[in-house]
Amino acid sequence: MPTNTWNRHHILSLADFTTTEYDTVLQTAASFQEVLSRRTKKVPTLQGQVVANLFFEPSTRTRSSFELAAKRLSADTLNFAAASSSMTKGETILDTAKTYLAMGTDIMVVRHREAGVPNAIAAEMDRLGVRVSVLNAGDGQHEHPSQALLDLFTICTLIDPASPRLELLKGKKIAIVGDILHSRVARSNIWSLIASGAQVHLAAPPTLLPKLFAEYISEQIGGKEQEAAGDKLILSSPSSPTPHSPLPTPQLFLHWQLEPALQNADFVMTLRLQKERMTAHLLPSLREYHHLFGITSTKLQLCKPNVKVLHPGPVNRGVEISSELMDDPEFSLIQSQVTSGVAVRMALLYLLGSGKA
Ligand code: NCD
Repeated sequence: MPTNTWNRHHILSLADFTTTEYDTVLQTAASFQEVLSRRTKKVPTLQGQVVANLFFEPSTRTRSSFELAAKRLSADTLNFAAASSSMTKGETILDTAKTYLAMGTDIMVVRHREAGVPNAIAAEMDRLGVRVSVLNAGDGQHEHPSQALLDLFTICTLIDPASPRLELLKGKKIAIVGDILHSRVARSNIWSLIASGAQVHLAAPPTLLPKLFAEYISEQIGGKEQEAAGDKLILSSPSSPTPHSPLPTPQLFLHWQLEPALQNADFVMTLRLQKERMTAHLLPSLREYHHLFGITSTKLQLCKPNVKVLHPGPVNRGVEISSELMDDPEFSLIQSQVTSGVAVRMALLYLLGSGKA
């Protein structure tokens, strides 16, 4: 397993991930995918280590796949659910984390509805001088690194199953459609896809992709607005300058209509309408939203013929994606994403945990 290049102690964001780190995660996950295809699916790698899943917010896929990933690596797992914990008696988040530390936890997998909670726990562990790693499993509207890494792995293994690597996405057109404003998945995916050299097209109604968000993202990627015309705003990232042009290649495009984002797309990532995070009425109706932005087989005809559709789940069937398309194995990668989730999370736990033995 390629660990000699791995120096990161916590995984909180993809904003500063390097190409080497992406490729290390992809190659390590490919090795674990192979392990998971064997009759005996367990390896002793993290034997004796404790992985605590601290989920302060509901989850099906992320929590279960982190638990299975830890078990496949032979770690001991602790599962925390806020509703049945001492937090109902007033215990603070940091005191809860320190309780798990006192039980010998080596890796904390943290999900919280507020942005920054995994960072705060990581900072506290560092302040205490303990070798506990923190993995962000989704914090508010900030980031969801393991989801973006499993999306990346799903796409890269489809292109080259034997050798998934970041450069495979260079020049591919990827549309991210839906509730981008509230999506931590979109934010993490933007980082990894920009790093790969892909062309990322965001599409949503203006209430779910406001211009302010565009400016924020532009600032974050250190890019520059090149054109603001009609429904399209093009941002460029300085990470991929072309040899003959002083201006960096535009990589991030924003649309307030669906069609230009789908035109010739290689992959379409749809996102759930996150009603629990909407503080105002941002849409006239779900029917109208489906009509304008819902992904259907008919709308996919605008894309490349072998286009594939992703969704992080949970899905509002018939809203962001048609029920029939969601279940169509020719186009839908939704089940593969869930399967990839175990191998990718094994890779992340392994990379963080292998130095601790
Ligand atoms: C996502 C999340 O929780 O951010 N789901 C997931 O982790 N699989 C997306 C969502 O909730 O819509």
